[in-house]
Amino acid sequence: MKTLLYKASGSLLISMVLLFTACAEKDETAVENMKSRPDSVLVINAGKEIVTESFAAISNALGTAMTRGGVQHAIEYCNTVAIELTDSVSTQYEVTIRRASHKPRNPNNRANEMEMASIEAYMQMISDGTELTPRLEFQENSVIYHAPLRLVTFTCLSCHGSTNEDILEEDYAIIKQHYPDDEATGFELDELRGIWSVTFPYEFFKTYERTDGL
Ligand code: HEC
Repeated sequence: MKTLLYKASGSLLISMVLLFTACAEKDETAVENMKSRPDSVLVINAGKEIVTESFAAISNALGTAMTRGGVQHAIEYCNTVAIELTDSVSTQYEVTIRRASHKPRNPNNRANEMEMASIEAYMQMISDGTELTPRLEFQENSVIYHAPLRLVTFTCLSCHGSTNEDILEEDYAIIKQHYPDDEATGFELDELRGIWSVTFPYEFFKTYERTDGL
């Protein structure tokens, strides 16, 4: 009886080894990619963290500029600083981060096809009254994280609201001077302004796991 059991488990082990070998031979790169492909929960945590940090950095800079020199000064400041800020966060984490919009002020921030799909999905969720959750797109060696970007405070409206009521005429003149093709007005409080789009190379999660222990 003992020998039988031994034989049975022995052959089970052998067939398992064979199975794994067969898999590995079949598609080594696919297995390799699967190994480094991070867990969704981890990506969402990292995405939330980096977006919160970027949003705080931009809001602080914007607030300081507005207190110091009013809306007009802030517009000129935003013009150069918004890009630098997102860049500095990106370098720290070795990721790419951008704000994409269906109605951009800076033409470089116009949503691409994949970003547009998320914007449309978020608009649908808003009209359905469902919770707006992050969206992930796994690629060969990287994963893209999308999160909604809404006009959360009245402050946003002084540069993105209606040109008749919220934005002063002289301020809008400055906006137009820097952004002749501006589409980013006419928004209301809480409306979807666009999305955050963060691209994480899979390697990022090796160090992220190590340092944060998540
Ligand atoms: C002082 C004016 C001002 C205020 C206030 C302001 N913005 Fe902007 N916003 C700008 C300018 C100028 C740009 C273009 C920046 C650039 O060139 O990248 C911009 C760009 C953006 C973009 C990138 C997409 C695009 O259209 O180019 C988003 C998203 C955005 N703003 C959201 C907000 C939100 C949310 C708030 C409120 C928390 C806000 N803004 C407040 C002036 C402002």
